[in-house]
Amino acid sequence: MAVADLTEAQARQELARLAGTLAAANTAYHRDDDPDISDAEYDAFKHRNAEIEARFPALKRKDSPSEQVGGAVAEGFGKIQHAVRMLSLGNAFDDADVADFDQRIRKYLGLAGGAPLTYTAEPKIDGLSLSLRYEGGALVQAATRGDGSVGENVTANARTIANIPTQLNGAPDVLEVRGEVYMSHADFAALNTRQAAAEQKTFANPRNAAAGSLRQLDAQITKSRPLRFFAYAWGELSAPLADTQSGAISRLAALGFATNPLTKTCASPQALIAHYRDIEEQRAGLGYDIDGVVYKVDDLALQSRLGFRSTTPRWAIAHKFPAELAWTVLEAIDIQVGRTGALSPVARLRPVTVGGVVVSNATLHNEDYIAGRDGNGAPIREGRDVRVGDWVQIYRAGDVIPKIKDVDIARRPADAVPYAFPQICPECQSDAIREEGDAIRRCSGGIICPAQAVEKLKHFVSRAAFDIEGLGAKQVEQFYTDGWIATPADIFTLRARFGVGMQQLKNREGWGDKSAGNLFDAIDEKRTIPLARLIFSLGIRHVGESGAALLANHYGSWAGFEVAMTRATVGKGAAWEDLISIDGVGAVMAGSVITTFQQDAERASIDQLVAQLDVQDTEQRVTDSPVAGKTVVFTGTLEQMTRAEAKARAEALGAKVLGSVSAKTDILVAGPGAGSKAKKATDLGIKTMDEASWLALIDTA
Ligand code: IVH
Repeated sequence: MAVADLTEAQARQELARLAGTLAAANTAYHRDDDPDISDAEYDAFKHRNAEIEARFPALKRKDSPSEQVGGAVAEGFGKIQHAVRMLSLGNAFDDADVADFDQRIRKYLGLAGGAPLTYTAEPKIDGLSLSLRYEGGALVQAATRGDGSVGENVTANARTIANIPTQLNGAPDVLEVRGEVYMSHADFAALNTRQAAAEQKTFANPRNAAAGSLRQLDAQITKSRPLRFFAYAWGELSAPLADTQSGAISRLAALGFATNPLTKTCASPQALIAHYRDIEEQRAGLGYDIDGVVYKVDDLALQSRLGFRSTTPRWAIAHKFPAELAWTVLEAIDIQVGRTGALSPVARLRPVTVGGVVVSNATLHNEDYIAGRDGNGAPIREGRDVRVGDWVQIYRAGDVIPKIKDVDIARRPADAVPYAFPQICPECQSDAIREEGDAIRRCSGGIICPAQAVEKLKHFVSRAAFDIEGLGAKQVEQFYTDGWIATPADIFTLRARFGVGMQQLKNREGWGDKSAGNLFDAIDEKRTIPLARLIFSLGIRHVGESGAALLANHYGSWAGFEVAMTRATVGKGAAWEDLISIDGVGAVMAGSVITTFQQDAERASIDQLVAQLDVQDTEQRVTDSPVAGKTVVFTGTLEQMTRAEAKARAEALGAKVLGSVSAKTDILVAGPGAGSKAKKATDLGIKTMDEASWLALIDTA
């Protein structure tokens, strides 16, 4: 369905579904280097997600896939747990997104349109982020972002960067300074010249050069590379730096850090946009790469009230510069089949440089996109279809997979024919079916489709799932081809089937006595598995890592989950209601889980798997808060915070916030004007308190 036609409820559901799918895909891609869906499928999902979020910014989820923090810690560097998580930023692509950002913040804080609200605006440096920890004024540690929680220890390397002070005067005892490591255009060009002369690897762009230079195991190499640092944020602090973002940045500058001279405070979204245009004009002459402008709420007390979604602050956003474009020839269209059976068209292109990067593949999203229409038959590209042989315009924004934006009909070869999207799966020849309302055509073969079966197995062993050492995507593919494993349960019977002689495995190239034995041990080690991981591993459509965690938290044990899913019927009944009452679980995800449990082959495969495992119950999150596990209802007018803020804070402390009072309610927070809910709570004997008492209660947390 076209985004323009989605109702708010449909949009919310679809965003929930996309978040699940993309979270899993992100982990597989970034952390495991082991994508579980095709690039094109990934991009089609991401594109759709961005479009829906652009139209319904207020529905953007806590776990929005557009804001996943990618990357993971590489082997070779020590690991550092960040005292305060290193986050990513949400994106704005146009003026309307900036206005929405301002509106969202005002709404969250309960600020009227005219009330003053100041922001800072500064260039978004295209480098890599670094966290510097000072204790007693001395630089003691430097870490890359990694996955946001755990980064790489690059202390020795950071010490070699000329404009990073190693000793501070007058700094708080503990100070973590965060900012961007980058390389100037001139230094980048000179480095590449030196590298080429020495027949060493050259870099595609300054950002890669900066990353490659900082992440050197030998700090002497880093030292020989001209890196620089801009400070723009902080992590743990033993004392505040200032009351405002701008004040804190001035303080960092006074302590000796380079801060960006184009940082400015702005009193309105219009002023932000004016500064954006100004920076955009200066961009080419800056001498270093920037890819947008970052806006932040200036008042730090407001920043703290606004808090964070899962990976991004509510109080900041990156307003990106428009994407880069280039024309080339579409040489072929390939179809990739993903884990969920999605047939994803991939454009194979005559290689072309787009913004400094050579592009030879792009996503074509789905069959409608190729045909020049959206899901409802409305024209896109004014109805121009895309054909093999066409000249197509490639669009690349940041790191995302390139897309095809337009086609030049005037240059179309006379013999070009409309693309016939396959109606059968190219991998297993089953019918490829497109359901009503779904933009994607899917192979109906299920696990008989080798592509789906293998992708499912790859997902099963991926890092966020079973993560079995020695059993990665490559091995799984090999074992599947050899007929050794067809479903996840088969992995756990490998030792019993092959373990005694281990002949088959040992005879394989790359396997010996030791590695085969290690593999079986690694498999046995994973027989004990936390519930959330197990649920995620099942590869149920729409259930990503965060969805699996929500389900595991709610049901607590495999038995509880399994019984509920077996009893549940899509769309009705108590088990269904209970499932969709979970905040973050929409009807689409719920329907998908239940349907999976109802399919005989799937169900048998799940049962066989679980019979091999010892599934660990879920420990309840945030157990040390006075409201953890409590069901809370807010009613009446809240005076110190908006509903959204009240709900977000309560949930962050482990409470469940519902809209109506029932016997299961633990606390009713009633502001002035509370009506029937307060009465019902009194009748049911439910603890009722006013906003001030509630705040006092959670402040002890
Ligand atoms: S603020 C909690 N300011 O962009 C927010 N980030 O896409 C912390 N970046 O991870 C980030 N210039 O690596 C901020 N002026 C700037 C930035 C900036 C570049 C990077 C940073 C961040 C990424 C998010």
